[in-house]
Amino acid sequence: MVKICCIGAGYVGGPTMAVIALKCPSIEVAVVDISVPRITAWNSDQLPIYEPGLEDVVKQCRGKNLFFSTDVEKHVSEADIVFVSVNTPTKTRGLGAGKAADLTYWESAARMIADVSKSDKIVVEKSTVPVKTAEAIEKILTHNSNGINFQILSNPEFLAEGTAIQDLFNPDRVLIGGRETPEGQKAIKTLKDVYSHWVPEERILCTNLWSAELSKLAANAFLAQRISSVNAMSALCEATGADVTQVSYAVGKDTRIGPKFLNASVGFGGSCFQKDILNLVYICECNGLPEVAEYWKQVIKINDYQKSRFVNRLVSSMFNTVANKKIAILGFAFKKDTGDTRETPAIDVCKGLLGDKARLSIYDPQVTEDQIQRDFTMNKFDWDHPLHLQPMSPTTVKQVSVVWDAYTATKDAHGICILTEWDEFKTLDYQKIYDNMQKPAFVFDGRNIVNVDKLRDIGFIVYSIGKPLDAWLKDLPAVA
Ligand code: NAI
Repeated sequence: MVKICCIGAGYVGGPTMAVIALKCPSIEVAVVDISVPRITAWNSDQLPIYEPGLEDVVKQCRGKNLFFSTDVEKHVSEADIVFVSVNTPTKTRGLGAGKAADLTYWESAARMIADVSKSDKIVVEKSTVPVKTAEAIEKILTHNSNGINFQILSNPEFLAEGTAIQDLFNPDRVLIGGRETPEGQKAIKTLKDVYSHWVPEERILCTNLWSAELSKLAANAFLAQRISSVNAMSALCEATGADVTQVSYAVGKDTRIGPKFLNASVGFGGSCFQKDILNLVYICECNGLPEVAEYWKQVIKINDYQKSRFVNRLVSSMFNTVANKKIAILGFAFKKDTGDTRETPAIDVCKGLLGDKARLSIYDPQVTEDQIQRDFTMNKFDWDHPLHLQPMSPTTVKQVSVVWDAYTATKDAHGICILTEWDEFKTLDYQKIYDNMQKPAFVFDGRNIVNVDKLRDIGFIVYSIGKPLDAWLKDLPAVA
């Protein structure tokens, strides 16, 4: 029986290994983590992450061929294949701070693998890493190997949170990069055999190590670039009276472009896009390619611009001040069907409104009050560096409340901000909400999910990104 161990029981390690265990009953899969609460949660009825379909998969395999454990060393030493799916956040200090990937977690995992291994192993990079990381990992492993043979593979993960199980069941492609030596090719074949249990042969792409590593950064950069492109257009639509939904539909009909990932919004979030682009920018700079670096940097700049444009639009619509006004925040996660708030645009929008002294009443179906409070206390990039945690300031405590339904959040509010596209926000009773709000009542839809005409008929003043402006907003000075 092949034994797999995955280091890192997070958003990637947990679901990926659960699906491998489900699809390969003859393989024993252990997912290990240094975080005791995380492993305890994986072994309980309250999984540590919300992902549609995940619970069902875990329940089918847990205790049979899928195990979650904090005994990292034991499971690593027994495994034939070790996936490393630890976090690779942006560095917050030292060389490359604010851009480069922090490989501290990766390096310590690699050193531990070298220390505890007693048999040959295939070590698989599942985390997103800078190009040439495999070379560094190889050096750590081979210099501490005691005669054991390690083969490094790059097998970046392309799942999207919110649809992770679907993506893992039916991936567009599985990418495996390895050395072009006979041993490297043999290792590729071993990993390919695992995926072949359910992924069609033609979707398993095999490349050299560096192509696999770079492809993941490139894919995320391309995806984020599409969002920034349509968001840049949304600003122009508002200025000209065009409707961004119509524009993106027309553009996406071109089969060379395609319709996906062309929804205008308040901006992209999540743990990966910004981090991976910054990492790409850093790699370009280090390789003497400042023009290429500058090109990709713009994707992030537009994303930041979109968030501040949203806040500015809101404040200027509400008579240039939101001081002491109650603003309902509907949605805090970075997208629907996840409770993940890493780099969610809601943090920047809320911080902008708090800076203008608004009172916020926040509702998200999957995000806890604890999490929201933590998000407000952290500086950019600090979320993945737990040592930097601080308590929320007393002023912020007074300004923020977290509630458990949309009607409580919006009661007596002056305005509503929709920041996550949860389906339930489309079917709220907006007449009832309007009746219970201060007037004039405003809706700022950062995800373009409400029926603008219907809400205007009720009496709301509605701002929807990239849509023709309400007469109210048109008369205001232009927003930068
Ligand atoms: P995460 O933060 O949810 O999980 C990482 C886990 O690794 C944590 O539970 C942490 O305790 C554990 N860990 C860190 N060092 C360890 C060590 N030395 N030994 C044992 N456990 C250790 O991170 P997530 O979101 O799963 O991401 C992991 C990697 O996958 C990152 O490189 C990310 O860029 C990449 N990725 C993430 C995707 C996503 O949608 N979240 C999608 C595709 C790739």
